[in-house]
Amino acid sequence: MPDPELHADEVLVEVHAAGINLLDSKIRNGEFKLILPYKTPFVLGHDVAGVITKVGTSVKQFKVGDEVYARPADHRIGTFAEFIAIKETDVAIKPKKLSMEEAASIPLVGLTAWQALIEKGDLKKGQKVFIQAGSGGVGTFAIQLAKYLGATVATTTSTANMELVKSLGADVIIDYKKEDFEKILHGCDLVLNSQDGKTLEKSLRVLKPGGKVISISGPPDPDFAEGIGSPWFVKLIMRLLSSGVRKKAKRLNVGFSFLFMKANGGQLKEITSLINAGTIRPVMDRIFPFESIKDAMSYVESGRAKGKVVVKIK
Ligand SMILES: NC(=O)c1ccc[n+]([C@@H]2O[C@H](COP(=O)([O-])OP(=O)(O)OC[C@H]3O[C@@H](n4cnc5c(N)ncnc54)[C@H](OP(=O)(O)O)[C@@H]3O)[C@@H](O)[C@H]2O)c1
Repeated sequence: MPDPELHADEVLVEVHAAGINLLDSKIRNGEFKLILPYKTPFVLGHDVAGVITKVGTSVKQFKVGDEVYARPADHRIGTFAEFIAIKETDVAIKPKKLSMEEAASIPLVGLTAWQALIEKGDLKKGQKVFIQAGSGGVGTFAIQLAKYLGATVATTTSTANMELVKSLGADVIIDYKKEDFEKILHGCDLVLNSQDGKTLEKSLRVLKPGGKVISISGPPDPDFAEGIGSPWFVKLIMRLLSSGVRKKAKRLNVGFSFLFMKANGGQLKEITSLINAGTIRPVMDRIFPFESIKDAMSYVESGRAKGKVVVKIK
């Protein structure tokens, strides 16, 4: 592949490590065609840590040699490569203490947790939040962020990962293979839903009136369709896909919304500060060499990853 073309507001990053996300597999499998209509051929990869080797003419915040990390914007992805051009507004300086591999594990899940708990969820000190799959990429970050915000955190995981989620600060730990969270949790202010439709429905019932579920695993809702400027038929499909859960939420007097995280260098900068302060740490499962990227993706697709999976490129 030729080196990426650099626009005036972009930095060219030499990729040292790239994080793997389920989104990469879902896009590869064609599951995201309605939301992200990529034209093949294109390069996958949504997380990067590396070094800036060139800056565009209007770039102000970064210089050549800066060690950075990012979740490049949709339609500008492609971190499974040696170089990537990224808008400077999507980039942040990498946390000092972290290796390149650790840094590459953070952006997409960190921003997802930030946008779910802070931006959309407005989670406050003393509130009760239920974060599903506490041992996953999003869960391991979200538990730590919710604790930082002063919330009481409930989470689900299997027996083998109970110690891990406890070490991250989870207050109520439910073994989803042995217990039903709906029988244990009541009066939650917020649920971060990342599992299937059945789990989503049950989640509505653990909320207090006025509480809300933010789902990152679907179904997409009309606000989301509007936000990404979908054509009318996609808006209609998303309205229909989410109509059942929206009706159920309304009946229970709780809120439902879908979140699809966005690139955001400003929020990533705040995440850098939390990591530098030791408030949040990365949870790494495995690092694969670039040649084994297919194995790395299969491993993530198995649904058993404990924290993040990263590919070392340089
Ligand atoms: N909309 C967005 O912006 C957005 C952003 C990020 C992720 N997502 C989506 O959110 C979901 C989670 O992403 P992720 O990266 O965190 O996934 P992940 O890291 O692959 O999740 C793996 C973890 O999930 C746990 N798990 C599996 N089934 C579970 C269940 N029924 N209950 C509780 N825990 C369970 C596993 O623990 P055990 O081994 O103990 O079972 C494992 O540790 C995916 O569908 C992803 O595509 C969406």
